[in-house]
Amino acid sequence: MNIIVEKNWDNHPHIALVKLNRSKVLNALSNELMDELVQALFKLDDDQEVRVIVLTGDERAFAAGADIAQMVEENPVDKILENRFRSWQQLTMISKPIIAAVSGFALGGGCELAMTCDLIIAGDNARFGQPEINLGIIPGAGGTQRLTKAIGKSKAMLMNLTGEMIDATTAEKWGLVAKVVPAETVLQETYEIAKKIAAKAPVATRLIKEAVNRSFETSLKEGMEFERRNFFLTFSSSDQKEGMRAFLEKREAKYTGR
Ligand code: HXC
Repeated sequence: MNIIVEKNWDNHPHIALVKLNRSKVLNALSNELMDELVQALFKLDDDQEVRVIVLTGDERAFAAGADIAQMVEENPVDKILENRFRSWQQLTMISKPIIAAVSGFALGGGCELAMTCDLIIAGDNARFGQPEINLGIIPGAGGTQRLTKAIGKSKAMLMNLTGEMIDATTAEKWGLVAKVVPAETVLQETYEIAKKIAAKAPVATRLIKEAVNRSFETSLKEGMEFERRNFFLTFSSSDQKEGMRAFLEKREAKYTGR
């Protein structure tokens, strides 16, 4: 098994933990791992009980990139015929929030995988990088695109052109990660954040994810329009009534997800 899925993580009915499970090779992202990951995420996305997904590796590595042993003899025709990048595209179709809990190395495809998630919580031992240039290739799953949008052109150029890693504090300062926590608490801290999100109205959290992601694809005017329509849409949910009534009645909201 290249990944391990824990559906009711820590007995929480709405949080799922997905763990990359190729420790010996620093969770190198083989084709098989990527296929299993996408299948698992789709299953969790379809499961109405699940509201938040946490994706993690182990203490040494979130993931040290695509599997170099698998790639070394590949040619472009193999990649096209096997439709290898479909799984990366499919990752962006998950509608529920995914939090990357990163310890250790997040390099190449590993950094790209973390960036494909909705937010990154990093242990203070985390290292991010796009070292593809050291292998004579370039990133293929967002290292020149998502990274540039996250940290800006000059810093993205620096990382991509030198292949050097940055530490967690730098990654936070540059806007790549949302929060840095002591390495030994990264899962616990991520769980606390997941718990907060899982307590919100699920339809609204999905619409927020959709709207924030839309900002990368559209002009401000179109993005604002998209946001407004999603805003209107939330008023068709019973959770909107519940959220507002609970506020006025000075009690905790109980969301049903409808
Ligand atoms: C396959 C990998 C691997 C990888 C590490 N390993 N990274 N195997 N693919 N990406 C294996 C090593 O071969 C080694 O196996 C074991 O994991 C432990 O790694 P070491 O190198 O011994 O560990 P260490 O000295 O601590 O160095 C850690 C490291 C280094 C700095 C992270 O492993 C490293 O540079 N890895 C490659 C990082 C990289 O270039 N990533 C980008 C890949 S290209 P053995 O059998 O010797 O114990 C990419 C393109 C994405 O991601 C395109 C879009 C999908």
